[in-house]
Amino acid sequence: MATKNKTKLYMVSLGPANWELVTIQALKALQYCGAICIPTKSEDHSFEKSITYKIVKDLMNEYGFDKPIIPVYSPMNFKKKDWQYQVDILVDSIDKYDSVSFVTLGDAAVYSTVYYLLDIIKKQDKKLYKNSVVIAGITSFSYASSKVKKPLCLGDNRFELIPLIGKEVPSTKVYMRPKIGMKTDDINENGTLYTFENLNFEGENIQKGKLEKVRKYMTLMIDFIKREK
Ligand SMILES: C[S@@+](CC[C@H](N)C(=O)[O-])C[C@H]1O[C@@H](n2cnc3c(N)ncnc32)[C@H](O)[C@@H]1O
Repeated sequence: MATKNKTKLYMVSLGPANWELVTIQALKALQYCGAICIPTKSEDHSFEKSITYKIVKDLMNEYGFDKPIIPVYSPMNFKKKDWQYQVDILVDSIDKYDSVSFVTLGDAAVYSTVYYLLDIIKKQDKKLYKNSVVIAGITSFSYASSKVKKPLCLGDNRFELIPLIGKEVPSTKVYMRPKIGMKTDDINENGTLYTFENLNFEGENIQKGKLEKVRKYMTLMIDFIKREK
């Protein structure tokens, strides 16, 4: 996936702050793209405090490659104008370098700027949206659990991810470990539900909505919360 030449924009998850926790797919995207866009919270666009910059530099040293690095000022104000500014940098960089990687810590699916930027890109440039890929990474909490040798969920337990923002918020729900043949009527769709079967092996199927009955053990469903865009 990482080397499809139609891809113009790689949204690359780097894992939790250590180059050895970067996936091979992420490494390939960084090696393949024309330039790497790295977010920085510093107003002077320096990377002194940037963890992502350090991971990328460590990878370049370890694997002997070099790419132009483009700072993307990301003040974390959750303002649309800031995300638009970041998208403008990505678009300009793609014009110049043909393809770019934008990097993010942990996994892009978890509280990352990536999806704010993709929302804008989806509206303003459908072709670029189509030619973008998101590369998954190790989350901080998967890694944290491994450090203390404690599972996030086991047996009959479930796992909750709670943002410490002082209010109740709706959840995206992941359903897994079904029995083959079980009916799915009890699963309420509150947002947008997708079914994923046999990911990355024979019989892979990704579809919107539920199957009436589960066909394979390797099935998971995600009910993504509806977001305002
Ligand atoms: C904006 S979220 C990004 C989460 C990230 N995308 C992930 O997959 O883990 C930032 C929060 O993730 C957690 N986090 C991320 N990296 C961490 C690390 N290296 N050590 C501890 N906590 C971390 C902290 O709770 C931090 O406030």
